[in-house]
Amino acid sequence: MAIGKVLGCAGFQHSAVPTLREPVRLRAQCRRRGKTVSMSVQKTSKTVQQAEKMSQEFRQSSSTPLPLLHQVADALVQEMYAGLASEGGSDQLKMLPTYVENLPSGSEKGLFYAVDLGGTNFRVLRVELGGKTGQILSQEFKEVVIPPELMVGTGKDLFDFIAGTLASFVDTEDESIKAHFVQSGKTRESGFAFSFPVRQTSVKSGIVIHWTKGFKVDDAVGKDIVKQFQDAISRSNHQIMISALVNDTVGTLAGGRFNFDEETMIGCIIGTGTNACYVERADAVHKWDEPLPKSGEMVINMEWGNFRSPYLPRTFADETVDKDSVNPGDQWFEKMISGMYLGEIVRLVLARMAKEAELFGGNVPVKLLERLTLGTPHVSKIHLDNSPDLDVVAKVLKDVFEIETTTLEERKIVHEVCDIMGERGGRLAAAGLYGILKKIGRTGKSRNGSKKKTVIAMDGGLFEHHVRYRSYMEEALQELMGSDAAYEVALRLQNDGSGIGAALLAASHSHFK
Ligand code: BGC
Repeated sequence: MAIGKVLGCAGFQHSAVPTLREPVRLRAQCRRRGKTVSMSVQKTSKTVQQAEKMSQEFRQSSSTPLPLLHQVADALVQEMYAGLASEGGSDQLKMLPTYVENLPSGSEKGLFYAVDLGGTNFRVLRVELGGKTGQILSQEFKEVVIPPELMVGTGKDLFDFIAGTLASFVDTEDESIKAHFVQSGKTRESGFAFSFPVRQTSVKSGIVIHWTKGFKVDDAVGKDIVKQFQDAISRSNHQIMISALVNDTVGTLAGGRFNFDEETMIGCIIGTGTNACYVERADAVHKWDEPLPKSGEMVINMEWGNFRSPYLPRTFADETVDKDSVNPGDQWFEKMISGMYLGEIVRLVLARMAKEAELFGGNVPVKLLERLTLGTPHVSKIHLDNSPDLDVVAKVLKDVFEIETTTLEERKIVHEVCDIMGERGGRLAAAGLYGILKKIGRTGKSRNGSKKKTVIAMDGGLFEHHVRYRSYMEEALQELMGSDAAYEVALRLQNDGSGIGAALLAASHSHFK
C-alpha cells in the first residue's frame, strides 16, 4: 500500500472513504473546543508527515529491485560452490551432505514415527504408509510447546522432555497398535527431524554444529544428537529406534517427492527460521570423500539462513535484532526473512517512529519499547487488513501495544511498515531459490533438457499463513525466471513436510527391511 502525501490541515472532508486527511478533520472538529487541542492538530499533521517520510526512507533502504535480486542470487551461487568444494570452504553456507541418496519412491509401507524439533513447538507423529499405493493411510500427532527454559538449558533436560513426550504418545496408543508391535516383534522406528545445523556422519547420526532460532543448549554442541536423544529414550524405559536424522528441509523435500512428482528438487522452509536443501549431483560435492552413492545424487542441506552479502539491504532494525539475539553475527539471511524476527523488525521501526516522529502521540507507548512483543502472526494480520478503516491494525495496536486510539493515518503507516518488511522478505527468499535453480541448471535455456516443471516443496508457518509474503515471493520468482516462469517452476506447500518426510525416510532406512 503506498502512502500518499499528507497535505496539512485542510478543513473538512466529506468522503465516505477515509483518506489520509480524515484524522486531521476529526481533530479539527475538536479544535473549536480549546487551544490545547488545536496545537495537537498541527503537531499530528506534522508528526504524521515526519513518520511518513521515515517510512519512505525505510522503504528505500529495504528495497529489492530485480538487479539486486540477481546479485543476491549470484552471490549465493558463489557461496554454494565454495561450500561444496571443501569443509569450511564457505564461512556462510555449510552445504552439508545429508547421506540421503534416495528420496521416497512411494513404496514405503508400515507404521512409522517422527519427532520434529525445530522451533518453539515440538511434534510427535505416527504415520501409516500404504506401500504401493503411495498413500498415507492414517496419521496422528501430538504437539507441545517447548518450555522456554529448556531452549537455553542443558541437553539432558531438553532430550528428557522430548523423549518423555514421545513416551507418553506411545503409552496412550490404541491397543491394536501396541499389539501390532508385539506380534510383529518389530521395534518402533522413528525419523528425527532436527532443524538445526548438524554435520551428519551417517543417515542416522550427526554432530550439532550450533543452535539457531533462540535455542542455546551449549552442552549439546559438538556431540551426536541422535545418541543424546536415544539415551534419553532409554532413560524413559522405552524402546524406540531412530532410523533417520533429517533436517526439516530434507523432510519437506522427501514429502514433496512422495506427494507431487519426481521433479521435486528443492525443499525450503520459511517459518520461525529458514533454510533450503536440494538434490545435487554427487560428483559435484567435491568435499565428499566417501564412495559415490549409486544414485549419483546427494541431498545437500545448505543452511542458507547463515548467508550474508553486501547486497542484502540491511537496516538499523536488522542490526539491532542481530545484536540482541542469542547468536549475534550469525544467520543474517534468516534474521532478515524469517518468522522469528519479522515482528521484532517491525516493532523496532515503529518504536523509532514513535520516538523520533511522535507517531502515536507525544509519549512513546511503553509496550512498544519491549522486545519481542509483536509476533509475526500480528504482522501478517496487519498486512492482510484491507478494511477501509484498518480495523484489524487498530485492534493489534491496542492488544499488543496497549495503544487505545490511533488515527487512520497512523494505522496506514503501521500497515506500510509491515508491507515493506513482507515484500523484502518474500523477494529475498525468492532470490535464494532462484540461486539454487541456477546452480542445478533449472533456469531458462539451461534447464538440463528437462521439459518438466521443477517443483519446490515449501513448508513453514510464514509461507503457509502470510499470504502477502507468499505472493511477493511468487511474483519475484516469476520476475527472476522471466516469462517462462509459470511453465518452469512451481512452489508447492508440503504441509507438515518435516514430520511426514522424517517418517518416510525412517521407513526407507528401516532396520527391518
Ligand atoms: C536452521 C535450519 C532449519 C531452519 C528452518 C534454521 O534456523 O539452522 O537447520 O532448517 O531453521 O527450520
